[in-house]
Formats: sequence, structure tokens, C-alpha cells
Amino acid sequence: MHHKQNIYILAIESSCDDTSAAVMHNDKMLSNVVATQKIHEAYGGVVPELASRAHQQNIVPVVHQALAKANIDKKLVSAIAFTRGPGLLGSLLVGTSFAKSLSLGLKVPLIEVNHMQAHILAHFIKEEDKKVPSFPFLALTISGGHTQIVLVNNYFDMEILGETLDDAVGEAFDKSAKILGLPYPGGPLVDKYAAKGNPKAFPFPKPKVKDLNFSFSGLKTSILYFIQRETRKNPNFVEQNLNDICASIQSTIILILMDKLKKAAAQTGIKEIAIGGGVSANSGIRKALQESEVKYGWSTYIPKFEYCTDNAAMIGIVGYLKYIDGVFSDERIAAKARYVINQ
Ligand code: KG4
Ligand code: ZN
Repeated sequence: MHHKQNIYILAIESSCDDTSAAVMHNDKMLSNVVATQKIHEAYGGVVPELASRAHQQNIVPVVHQALAKANIDKKLVSAIAFTRGPGLLGSLLVGTSFAKSLSLGLKVPLIEVNHMQAHILAHFIKEEDKKVPSFPFLALTISGGHTQIVLVNNYFDMEILGETLDDAVGEAFDKSAKILGLPYPGGPLVDKYAAKGNPKAFPFPKPKVKDLNFSFSGLKTSILYFIQRETRKNPNFVEQNLNDICASIQSTIILILMDKLKKAAAQTGIKEIAIGGGVSANSGIRKALQESEVKYGWSTYIPKFEYCTDNAAMIGIVGYLKYIDGVFSDERIAAKARYVINQ
């Protein structure tokens, strides 16, 4: 991609529980500020009402900080990009209204961004010495809110090949962790204990879901019954076997993900495989993906962790790509809680 222009995009993300603002200079990130909302920890999950209130408190300082860190005057901003959806409506409204007033105030265009497209296009944020996937590629987006396999034909030509029918994979990690008495979000803790455990210690059944779709609610239930049964026999079962339990849960989840990825690769004949979303931090999935390079001849891509979890830089790269295509939004545009990737 060559660009003669200097385009500066100010991007805003507020779809769930992270308030984020970023400044991009063309496809390079100048700043990417994320305010994580700690308040939800006490509730064991995101509370929508509290999330939108926290966004209201955070958005002004976060945007200021992003501009300050980028060290550019806001008069230089070429356009405002914002997350239109999908996400929690109350959260999306905060970012949407803020982006609209900023675009009016600065007299610059507005660019709406689909959050799920952004998770995938985060791979195109420019970094030295980093290869990017070539089209067409398969993208597995895995986080606390999403589990999708997407066929990416081009920047804005995507097709969902499969997705979860119930819980997202991050939820499967977090809910399993909760059953084990671990604090929210438990995914990183399961990963940590799993490193010291035997993944074959306790076999859990894999769901039988057709096609390229996923289901994780059955796994959660079978883990719950298993733990209840074992603790009746031995009240210290979880304590004494935590590493093995975590390793077994994690390896089951990874097997489920890798099975579907393999199936998608076989069906499409595509060997360019990209992952994204907060769960891509998991060491098990990273290892499985690396091994698949040799095993199946795949080229695999994992963005920097900062660009995997919810962040505004990924909104900014989409804003840049739309800007150079001349795709702008009307100021009457509304947030969209349900917003599919190919719309
Ligand atoms: O993308 P993200 O920050 O937020 C959204 O859900 O959009 O993803 C958060 C999810 C949580 O469910 C968290 O437990 C999970 O990612 N996660 C992990 C790991 N790090 C984060 N799950 C397993 N292993 C990890 N190392
Ligand atoms: Zn997300």
C-alpha cells in the first residue's frame, strides 16, 4: 500500500468494557490508549449499566491522552472513526455520540467501523518486520464476546464460515475458572495453571456441532458436573488437582478450535490463517498454531497482544482504509448492537 498523503485518524472504541482512543498516521499507530473498567471484577462479568457509566467518565480523558501521546494538534485530524457495533448498546452510544460531536466540532468526516471487521483488519496495522496475511485468508476471532471463523477475501469482503451457537470461547475459559473458584476473568489463570498440568488427566467430551460452528455451553456443564461429583468424594479435589484440571480444560478448548480451523482450511484450500481477540493470548492456542505451520504447511498470523484485545488502533486502521476509499458516514448514523461482519 502506498500513500502520498498524511492522513491522521482519531479512533474511538467503546463496544464493551474498555474505553479506548487511538491516533493513526496512515497505517501506523501513534497512540493507543485503553482504560479498562475494573468495576466488573466484583460482579464476575460485565454489567452493561456500569459499563456505559464508566465510558462516560473515561472518554474525555482517554481521547485527550491519545492526542497528547500522539503529539499532534487536533486540527491535524483528518477524520473520526468509531465503533458502530456490534456490542452493548449503552456502551456503543457513548462512543457514537462522542465521535459525532467531535466530527461536527472539528469539521472533519465521520467513519463508522464494524468491531468484528476491526479485530481482523488489526493485522494490517503497520509494524516493522511483520508479515501480513495475503488474501484470501481465514481469520479466527476468539475473545470474551466472540468466536468466529471468517473467510477474508479482501479488506471489506468477508464471509462468516462458522461461529458459536452459545458461549464465546473466552466465556468458556472464564466460566470454567469460576467453577474452580478462580476470580474473573479467569482465562489467563487457567492458562497459567495449565502450563504445569497434564492435559490428558481428565478427558472432557467435545461437542458435536455440525459444519464450522462452535458450542461451548455443554463443556461448561460437563466441567461443572465433573467437579461437583469429584468434590463430593474428596472436598480438596480442586485444590489438589488444579493444574491437571486447567490443562485438561484448556487442551479440550484448543482441540475444539483447531478441529474447526483444520476443517475450514481443508474446505477452502486456504493456508493463510490469522487469529485475533483476547483469547489469542493463550499459550496453548499459540503453540498449536505454531505447530500447524510445520504440520499442515500453514502461514499463521497473530497480532501484537495490544491489538488482540479490544482497542481503538484496530478501529483506526479500518478508519484509514475507508478514508483512502472515500467511504464516510452520515452524521445521523446510529449505533448498532447487532451488526454482522459482512453488512
Ligand atoms: O478481547 P478481550 O480482551 O475482550 C473481549 O471479550 O472482547 O478478551 C477477553 C477474554 C476473556 O474471556 C479472558 O479470559 C480471555 O480473553 N483471555 C484468555 C487469556 N487471556 C485473556 N483466555 C485464555 N488464556 C489466556 N491467556
Ligand atoms: Zn472485541
